[in-house]
Amino acid sequence: MTNVAVIGAQWGDEGKGKVVDVLAEKFGCVVRFQGGNNAGHSVHFGGQQFALHLLPSGIFCNQTHNLIGNGVVVDPSALIREIDELKERGIEVTPDRLKISNRAHLVLPYHRIIDQFRDASPNQRKIGTTGKGIGPTYEWKAARRGIRFCDTHDKDDFSEKVRTELDLAQRLNLGIVELQQLHLDALMAEVWPAIHRLQDYVVDGVEFLAGLVEKNVPILFEGAQATLLDIDFGTYPYVTSSNSCALGIGAGAGVPARAIDRVVGITKAYATRVGEGPFPTELLDDVGSALRKHGKEFGTTTGRPRRCGWLDLVALRYAQRLNGFDCLALMKLDILDSFERLYVCEAYRIDGRETRVFPASLQQLQNAEPVYRELPGWNEDTSTIRQFGQLPTAAQDYVKAIESYVGCSVDLVSVGPDREETLLRSDGLFSDLYKR
Ligand code: GDP
Ligand code: IMO
Ligand code: MG
Repeated sequence: MTNVAVIGAQWGDEGKGKVVDVLAEKFGCVVRFQGGNNAGHSVHFGGQQFALHLLPSGIFCNQTHNLIGNGVVVDPSALIREIDELKERGIEVTPDRLKISNRAHLVLPYHRIIDQFRDASPNQRKIGTTGKGIGPTYEWKAARRGIRFCDTHDKDDFSEKVRTELDLAQRLNLGIVELQQLHLDALMAEVWPAIHRLQDYVVDGVEFLAGLVEKNVPILFEGAQATLLDIDFGTYPYVTSSNSCALGIGAGAGVPARAIDRVVGITKAYATRVGEGPFPTELLDDVGSALRKHGKEFGTTTGRPRRCGWLDLVALRYAQRLNGFDCLALMKLDILDSFERLYVCEAYRIDGRETRVFPASLQQLQNAEPVYRELPGWNEDTSTIRQFGQLPTAAQDYVKAIESYVGCSVDLVSVGPDREETLLRSDGLFSDLYKR
């Protein structure tokens, strides 16, 4: 297998962590290229369950390296907490297994405070962010004021840089009491020990990945968030602050675009969204509640209930056109096991006109009424099935309906959270894994 990217095709939480964990053993390195600890990627195996936020999901595979790329924004204390929590559970994250790009930007306490204040402020548009400081950190980066790992070798020098930025943050945000009360000494006491401990993990990410590419070591790129949360192509302004579709990989990992050989789109068999923003197929009725209950749809990072709805093929086709998916991974098919009838959205009706085009305009998206196609349910437990051909006919037809609308094959079907609860199509992209 060559270099592969795993990209969310919806609004996040599709099951990217599970797919990366399933595939990781075939790759020499797993690379996160954007986002930060706003991500929450769940991995289940051997009766154990893990939630990763900054660590790439290849961390459970002993022979695989993991890189936090330059496009990721890293909260050093949060990363240290994650490393320590894994250690308590018997998983050692050594500098041999984890690398951090020296060009990655730091999320600092003032970013977090600004993020949380803004999202709770009645005068500002509520995005429903994760409150981890992600947006302000990317703002600082774009304003050319960010602090990167390569700026952290010397404590005094780092402290001076932080002093300047904290001072600016305070002058620009006079109304944020918590920020006005933040002192440099307290800030340094919180972050410096973590930054100091992370020094051994820091590498030149460009050199590291170029070395792997030269040796033909296969690389797996792990997207966080998803296409419809992408800063350029998502449901703007209800998006995250990075390029979370496949177009962000080159810039966020530090590899040439041609280093990405295959792109896998990850989608649930239905749809969810956390936070504010348009969601044309959202179900505010009992069906939506049933999806949330069966699917355990509560955020991995914030615990917030996820909004639920039917699968939106208009949005999925848009994601396919943008990312150029070579195949799809269809997750959580088992959650549909007990529904008599299923619906997929095949068009939007906007101002009386039907369209298959996913609109750029927020107003049009908010007005989009889904045009549904009804499909029969299967009323059968799929969670124990391990071969595609053994799925109930109606379930196979559901998969085929998606393939034919989106124009892309479904090469992986997931019927439970565990690694083992995975069906790989024998003629698909993962055929070499199939022979395990
Ligand atoms: P990510 O952010 O894309 O990695 O996804 P999350 O981990 O935030 O959310 C996906 C949730 O669905 C996690 O709790 C997974 O354990 C769970 N999950 C993944 N695949 C399946 C599946 O096929 N069936 C079921 N029932 N749960 C799944
Ligand atoms: P994974 O990688 C789902 C959402 C937030 C909010 C918006 C902006 O687990 O799929 P931010 O904190 O990034 O500024 O919030 O994006 N969001 C996610 N939703 N899954 C995620 O990550 C998300 N990361 C951010 O809820 O609506
Ligand atoms: Mg998640």
